[in-house]
Order: sequence, then C-alpha cells, then structure tokens
Amino acid sequence: HSRVPLIAGNWKMNLDHLQAIATVQKLAWTLKDANHDFDAKGAEVAVFPPFTDLRSVQTLVSADKLDVVYGAQDVSEHDSGAYTGEISGAFLKALECTYVIIGHSERRTLHGETDEQLARKVAAAIRHGLVPVLCVGETAEDLEQHGPSAVPVAQLRAALEGLSGSPEIVVAYEPVWAIGSGQAATPEQAEQVAVKLRETLAELFGQETADATRILYGGSVKANNIASLMREPNVDGALVGGASLDVAEFASIARFQ
Ligand code: G3H
Repeated sequence: HSRVPLIAGNWKMNLDHLQAIATVQKLAWTLKDANHDFDAKGAEVAVFPPFTDLRSVQTLVSADKLDVVYGAQDVSEHDSGAYTGEISGAFLKALECTYVIIGHSERRTLHGETDEQLARKVAAAIRHGLVPVLCVGETAEDLEQHGPSAVPVAQLRAALEGLSGSPEIVVAYEPVWAIGSGQAATPEQAEQVAVKLRETLAELFGQETADATRILYGGSVKANNIASLMREPNVDGALVGGASLDVAEFASIARFQ
C-alpha cells in the first residue's frame, strides 16, 4: 500500500487567531529544520484550529507556502440558510481547508450528535470537496460490554451509510477512555481495531479503497509513544489533542520520535 502517514493536531477550543499564526509559523519552521537533519519527510502534518483561526492560518500558509495543511473541527450538515451558528462546508472549502473532523467523541457526548447526523455531515463534507476525518471509538463501558471493536465498527458503518464508489475519507480510532487520560491504547489494541475498521471499509467500498484509506489512532498520543504505534501496519498516523499544542512535542510526533 502507499498510504502517506498523517499526523493531525486537533487544537480543540484552544489558541486564538494570533496564537494560531505564531504556532503554525513555529511548527512549519521546526518541521523544516528537522527535515534538513533527517532528510526524509515523516508525514503529512495537519492542524485543526478553531473556526475563527482558519482565515489567519490560510493567509499564513498560502503566503509563506508552508508545508502544513489544515481543516476545521466540525461542519454543518447543511449547505447554507437559516442555521444560526453553523458553518458550511462551502465556507471551509473557500478557506482552502483540506480536511474536516467529524464525530469527535466530544461532539457526540457533549453536543449529542447522532450517527444519523454524522452521516449527513460526512456527506456534506464530501459534497464540498473536503476530506472527512471521521472519529469513532468506544467508552470504557462499551469495551467491557461489547469488546474492543464492536462500537467503533458500528459507528463507522452508520456514518458511511449511503456512500458509494471510493470516497476519500480518513478514519480516526479514538477510544474515549484514552482521550486526555494519559492512558493511550497499546499499539496492539490500536492495531486490532484498525484491522477491523479496514475490513469494514473493504466490505463497504472494496479492498482497493480500504487499502488506500488512512486509519489514525488518537488518545493520549505523545512523542514517547508514537514510534511504537506507527510500527503497526494498519495504523497510518495519529490524531493528537493535548500534545499538538506544544510545537516541539508535536513536531517530534510528526517525525515519529
Ligand atoms: O482529537 C484528539 C483526541 O481527542 C485526543 O486527545 O491527545 O489530548 O488525548 P488527547
């Protein structure tokens, strides 16, 4: 397979637009310096700032031709109209976003987003030419009751309901018990679920699409655990929360060390 690894930083509700400019600039410089030393590029590096930062990030990235891509943390299922507070995928595309996170566990639990709604958001993202980074993952309780992959696989199926052909998506497996807990899944646990998710993708879209789809692991990823996660054949990158706010740490993660 030829899946380019993706290291994605989800800033969540942190860093305003001025802090975003400083952070992205510093990140791009750090990655460039590191690439001089290491000559091979580790991975595609993406950041997911708050909506209000995206215009500043776009201006910086395009003016300085930075080797960083970006996306939003959510998108409306609707294209335009009377939806106060919502953000259309068309607006994100106009800001040259590549990706959009959909179905993060914080949106599922704190904002009550349902599988049906997430399927509509995935469709909206694709309609606007954005690549959805679809998050799936089980709680500690799910894990105990249903085992490791039942809930993530069911969430994947539900969110991709109605899609056909070979859609370009990224799947992020984020066990809820591992998010912000300091307790990452083991590489073996992450691989085990990634295999099941890829099998499900193969069933839905065929083996070729499944083999081309990147499956990320997220949940307490740090510089000190990324290397072992990346050694797993079905783990194609990481969705990093807390550690993405520290530029030096995040740049280390992007080099898998
Ligand atoms: O989207 C990122 C995940 O929620 C992981 O967050 O790295 O702070 O555990 P974390």
